Amino acid sequence: MPAPSRPRRSELATPASNEWMFEKAAASGADLVFLDLEDACAPAEREAARGKAAAALRELDWGRTLRAIRMNAVDTRWAHGDVIEVVTGARECLDVIIVPKVRRARDVWWVDVLLTQLEETLGLTGRIALEVLIEETEGLENVGEIVRASDRLEAVIFGAGDFSASQGARVDTNFDPVVDYPGDIWHYARSRVVVAARSAGIAAIDAPFPNFRDPAAYRTAAERAGAMGYVGKWAIHPSQVEIANEAFAPTGAEIEHARKVVAAYREAEAAGRGATSVDGMLVDAAHLRHAATVTATAALLEL
Ligand code: GLV
Ligand code: MG
Repeated sequence: MPAPSRPRRSELATPASNEWMFEKAAASGADLVFLDLEDACAPAEREAARGKAAAALRELDWGRTLRAIRMNAVDTRWAHGDVIEVVTGARECLDVIIVPKVRRARDVWWVDVLLTQLEETLGLTGRIALEVLIEETEGLENVGEIVRASDRLEAVIFGAGDFSASQGARVDTNFDPVVDYPGDIWHYARSRVVVAARSAGIAAIDAPFPNFRDPAAYRTAAERAGAMGYVGKWAIHPSQVEIANEAFAPTGAEIEHARKVVAAYREAEAAGRGATSVDGMLVDAAHLRHAATVTATAALLEL
């Protein structure tokens, strides 16, 4: 299982039409910021926003933050123009393109092929990575093929907002799907997405959380996603970034415990035993794998 290659604890959305938000986003400390040409951008603004996004990607200081855009879905009239204009304008200053509303593997293939042609034409030195949003019931049905559709794919994001609409979930009534539903109304979809991502060796990123005035609830949602294997969460406001960065980073105690597990297992192995214990708990090969995930994440985050 290849480990995710770049940190993605927080992915901050910023409308590409709103230049006044760009500097704050660039300085937010998010692992990834995406300038959104899709749903956060009014349709009449989408074409003009491409140039604003390219200029910001080129000109601002993004530090270690991955620089991304969310293009429009491949079945809209904007898709090819989004890719061509932003890649041509930003060149090496664009790290990732997020493809929304992916339904089939061929949607990813279409973007991959267009990027390959552009990279060659422009003589780009780097390779632009892809992330996909699973937010259509058809996309969830095909997620196993989608996550293997391109070797540019580094992450899959669960988009609960559109997914609810696609599924016909009645989230716009008095019935509150978070409070009134026993359990997580999106549990099946969340599970399906993280299992597919892990099986392809790419990162799973959890959905946006609309109420940015409720940091405690955001933290709980992030911790639950982390418990399922998600490595990061979407942020719709800069104030959510620090919470996600904390929630998806192993704590000092977790790292220390993981190192103890690895050391104890190696010692047992050298003595010809397949299992041992740490602090009164069984340690066998499966625990070694859990510990390896923690130490790999710590190494990725330079903790
Ligand atoms: C994100 O795009 C969502 O629909 O939740
Ligand atoms: Mg969406």
